[in-house]
Amino acid sequence: MITRISTGIEGLDRLTDGGFINGKVYLVSGECGTGKTIFGLQYLRTGLERGENGIYISGDEKPAHLVTDAEALGWQLGDYVREHRLGLLDVSPFFRDMRAGKARDVDTSTVIADLARHVKQIDARRIVIDPIAPLIFKDESQPGLREYIRSIVFAMEDNLGCTVLITSGTPSGTSALSQHGVAEFVVEGVIVLSIRQYQGRRTRALFVRKMRCTPANLDEHAFQIVPDKGIVLGEVCTTCP
Ligand SMILES: Nc1ncnc2c1ncn2[C@@H]1O[C@H](COP(=O)(O)OP(=O)(O)O)[C@@H](O)[C@H]1O
Ligand SMILES: [Mg+2]
Repeated sequence: MITRISTGIEGLDRLTDGGFINGKVYLVSGECGTGKTIFGLQYLRTGLERGENGIYISGDEKPAHLVTDAEALGWQLGDYVREHRLGLLDVSPFFRDMRAGKARDVDTSTVIADLARHVKQIDARRIVIDPIAPLIFKDESQPGLREYIRSIVFAMEDNLGCTVLITSGTPSGTSALSQHGVAEFVVEGVIVLSIRQYQGRRTRALFVRKMRCTPANLDEHAFQIVPDKGIVLGEVCTTCP
């Protein structure tokens, strides 16, 4: 039986039959400034309010900044951090073995074992990895990149007992969904955030590009970032180019 958990965005839960499937990995994709980090914070905050602990692994921002980002939206996450219900991690510890010269390359099992240790400490049910790119130690020119990304996503699903949201920044003006062009194929679902011209103005927009086991339509919804609520989906952008 499929159990779903709220994405944290009411309108998106409605579009996806109730949200993310428990235990799976989802990708939020978009250019810079489209709202990926706010989505991640909102996803974790919603879990925390429902008694589900979380971990935020940050690659672009200092973990402490995330608490400030959230405060600007009216979300007080500091208490959750102090109560050890929310773990804010820098992505760099995952490079520890490489830095210590113990490994030239890092394999999936090292990354997952490290993650699993944090999950146990926090008793986490939700994880955000924002962005996923620093955990992918291989680059496009190295053989095995595709297999590495596949194996890391599958290992998360098999070993963490968490529902994981990964983000990927995409270069401006491309239709790419992730930095390496692989993650979108192996994850359970893909949410695309963008900035669109709609009714003569730029607006933020969201659509569900992929959602396995879910009859989600492809309508693109304008959204706003509203104090306290965060991302709030609005009307369908019927004239989005
Ligand atoms: N407190 C806030 N209230 C309203 N909008 C905000 C707030 N904080 C950030 N934003 C908007 O969200 C945008 C950044 O979202 P962010 O999630 O950091 O994007 P991304 O992670 O995709 O680069 C900012 O450019 C800003 O316009
Ligand atoms: Mg960000």
